[in-house]
Parts: sequence; structure tokens; C-alpha cells
Amino acid sequence: MSQAKKIKIFDTTLRDGEQSPGASMNIEEKLRIAHLLEKMNVDVIEAGFPIASEGDFEAVRRVAKAIKGPQIAGLSRANNMDIDRAWEALKYAGERGRIHTFIATSDIHMKYKLKMSEEQVIETAVKAVKRAAGYTPNVEFSAEDAVRTRLPFLAKVVEAVIDAGARTVNIPDTVGYTIPSEYFNIIKYLKDNVPNIEKTVLSVHCHNDLGLAVANSLAAIQAGAEQVECTINGIGERAGNCSLEEVVMTLRTRQDILPFQTNVVTEHIYAASKLLSTITGIVVQPNKAIVGANAFAHEAGIHQHGVLMEKSTYEIMTPESIGLNQNKLVLGKHSGRHAFIQRLEQLGYELSKEDIEKAFVRFKTLADQKKEIFDEDIDAIVADEIIRI
Ligand code: KIV
Ligand code: ZN
Repeated sequence: MSQAKKIKIFDTTLRDGEQSPGASMNIEEKLRIAHLLEKMNVDVIEAGFPIASEGDFEAVRRVAKAIKGPQIAGLSRANNMDIDRAWEALKYAGERGRIHTFIATSDIHMKYKLKMSEEQVIETAVKAVKRAAGYTPNVEFSAEDAVRTRLPFLAKVVEAVIDAGARTVNIPDTVGYTIPSEYFNIIKYLKDNVPNIEKTVLSVHCHNDLGLAVANSLAAIQAGAEQVECTINGIGERAGNCSLEEVVMTLRTRQDILPFQTNVVTEHIYAASKLLSTITGIVVQPNKAIVGANAFAHEAGIHQHGVLMEKSTYEIMTPESIGLNQNKLVLGKHSGRHAFIQRLEQLGYELSKEDIEKAFVRFKTLADQKKEIFDEDIDAIVADEIIRI
């Protein structure tokens, strides 16, 4: 059997995800997410945009100091000030620190936003990559709005930044405009036409404006992309980014047709989804693939019957594979600590002994007033009592 090719997972929940309206997180919250991403074994955590604010700088610095496994990226525009500031925060991660610098390459962005010519954009990109490479060899370059860029020009930019030292080159669909066949062709074109393309990791970064971010990312992988940028629950600017859990579980579930694998420990997916929505207050729609409340629920009698006889009749993956244990005990005023702790774990919470104790006291008080305690009640207790203090 041929070896499956490794696809790197670059999680940008803490940067692009945080750009989602209402998703801003404080430093402690970002650290909690970063620790869970570390456990999930993602390859890269983009922790923020250090020049954007003191808070973002501090969050990137703290994540760079605290996280040991994954690489830590910080975003910077293509100018010296941004790059220097990014490295100031990232240097604590040593060689795992990645400077991620970007400039737009589409006509529309060059004309209206940058007011720069093609030559100026290439020169600025090359200078930025060289500046970043002066700090670390771990440099990523993104051609913002790559999908709406004329392909021969995009190829020229990619060639120039590789020569300047970019170890990873990202081809974003910044506005979520492409469709799978088109994106496949863009990635294939770059693979086939850019000299020295093998010296870099080709990355993809899709937004979900047309609901195609995951499909586009998968098409790009099939065309030769080696890194996927994504977020937990697919949060991000406007309609969001490619959802980490969807792309990772598709690769895991369709090994028969997609000979790729990731390093992600998928059993932490449910916990990560839960923690993020508790922290941000952004609820996951019930029918959301993989992590929605209904993703493993069977309502129709015929489906229930089938699943009782043999799970694979209507389940293409197991709830356990994302860390969801479905054998639930009913919680009420007679329930003890053991059942309560088990439910916390099933919901993805990993709390200290002290926090469990606080939550348990609240649980008992509530159980005296209510017949049954639902998952939503526990989420509310944890959010109220622990996460937000
Ligand atoms: O969507 C985008 O183009 C980005 C880049 C900064 C990578 O987020
Ligand atoms: Zn983006």
C-alpha cells in the first residue's frame, strides 16, 4: 500500500478566526485555546498579528513562550516595522517561530488599496521576505487575494519570494470567490510552472463566502498543496475560514480516495469546538458538520433502527473519533461528583480540581431547582463560573 502524504495543518483560529465579528479573546482565553491546539498536535498555530495592538503582541509572545510542540506564527504586513514587531513577539519560540508576511497581488487590490505597480509589489514582497529571513529561516509569504490575481503574475511573485527565502508560500482565496476546479487549476499551474517550487511548502487558505472553503481546500490538496490553513468551527472574517474539523475528518474518513493524512489527534476536536464556542459565545449551528449538536443524532425511526443494528448503516465516522462519548448518564440532584466530572469531560472541559469543585457546587444548587440538568446548563455554569472570571 502506498504511503499517505502528510498535510500540514496551520490553525489560524487565534488570528483570522479572531477577526470574526464578536470573536475577540483575551490573552488567557487565547492561551487556553493554544494549549488545546497543542494537544491536538496541529503543525502551526497562528497566534495573532503582533503589530495590531498591545494585546495581540502580548498574546503572541505568551503563546510563543508557553507552547512547546507546534510552530507559532505571527502575521505581519510587508514592511519593516510589522516584521520587526512580529519577531519581537515570536522569538521566544526559537526556531519554531514563524514570520508570516503578506501583500496583495490582484489588480483590484494593487490599484485601489496599495496604489502600487506589479514591479513595486514584487520588490516589496522580496524585501519583506529577506527582512524576515534575517531573523529566522521559518518565513511564510502570502499573496493576498491570490485567486483574483493574473496567474502569470502570481507565478512571478511566487518564484521571487521563494528565491528570497520563503519556506512556505500561501495562495489565499481571501474573498471566498473560487470554486474547486478553478482552485485545483491554480495550484496545479503553480506546481507545474514555478521554478524551484519544490523548495517551498505550498499552502492554501480559503474563506467561506460561497460555502466552498473546505471543498476548495480539498481540491487544492489533490492538486499538490501541502498545508491547509483553517480554524476551529470555521470561524473567521465574514462567512469564516475553512473549518479545521471538516477538512481533517474528511481526510481521515475518505482515506480510500484521498491518500493524505494529518498529524491531528482528532479525539480532541469536540473539546476544541466546545471550548471555542464557550469562550467566544459564538454558538455552533446544530446541523454543523462534525461538531454540531445533531451531527451524530438520529431522529428518524428507520435510521435509529439501522444504527442500533449496525452503526455504519448511517454513521460514516464514529462520535468517539472526535472525542464525543455518547453514553450519557442523566444528571440531576441525585448525581454525584463522578457523573458530573464525566459529563464535564464529555463536553470537552478540562478543569482544575478547584474549578471542578466550584462548578460542582453550582451544579448542586441548580439541580435542587430543576428536574434534569442539560448540557447547556453545564456550559452556562462553566462559562459563568470559570471561563469568564
Ligand atoms: O485571507 C487572507 O488573505 C489572509 C492573509 C493575510 C493570509 O488572511
Ligand atoms: Zn484570511
